[in-house]
Amino acid sequence: MGLSNINKVNKNCDLFIMIGEDDYRGKGVGKIAMDWLMDYSFNKLKLHKINLGVIANNVPAVKLYKKLGFKIEGIMIDEVRYKNKYYNFYSMALFEKDYKKGVKI
Ligand SMILES: CC(C)(COP(=O)(O)OP(=O)(O)OC[C@H]1O[C@@H](n2cnc3c(N)ncnc32)[C@H](O)[C@@H]1OP(=O)(O)O)[C@@H](O)C(=O)NCCC(=O)NCCS
Repeated sequence: MGLSNINKVNKNCDLFIMIGEDDYRGKGVGKIAMDWLMDYSFNKLKLHKINLGVIANNVPAVKLYKKLGFKIEGIMIDEVRYKNKYYNFYSMALFEKDYKKGVKI
């Protein structure tokens, strides 16, 4: 997990996360890791906005991000090709004001 493209002028960044081992998914680790990253982004780096991108059919990830207060800002149609099928891609974001409001889980 991490933050990339941290932009000090616009006060935003891109967030990425991946639990490599199947056995460790769905056990609450993602929630804890996201919570830590959001706390670091807003309280330590004082950012205004966190951006992330996710394939629309990645149900666990989209569910987790929505639960944490991320909103879909844009949908890129047929952006990703996998095994000869095309998938939409969501651009999602969380603003500091929504995080501070306590959208956290
Ligand atoms: C997406 C990912 C980071 C989530 O982390 P996780 O540890 O598996 O998720 P958690 O156990 O913390 O679950 C948090 C929430 O996510 C959702 N969720 C997790 N696994 C789910 C599943 N298999 N189906 C549906 N929802 C799921 C639920 O809303 C869950 O909340 P709940 O337990 O209150 O219902 C992890 O599954 C992962 O790394 N997947 C592969 C890589 C990936 O897709 N990365 C994101 C790319 S954008």
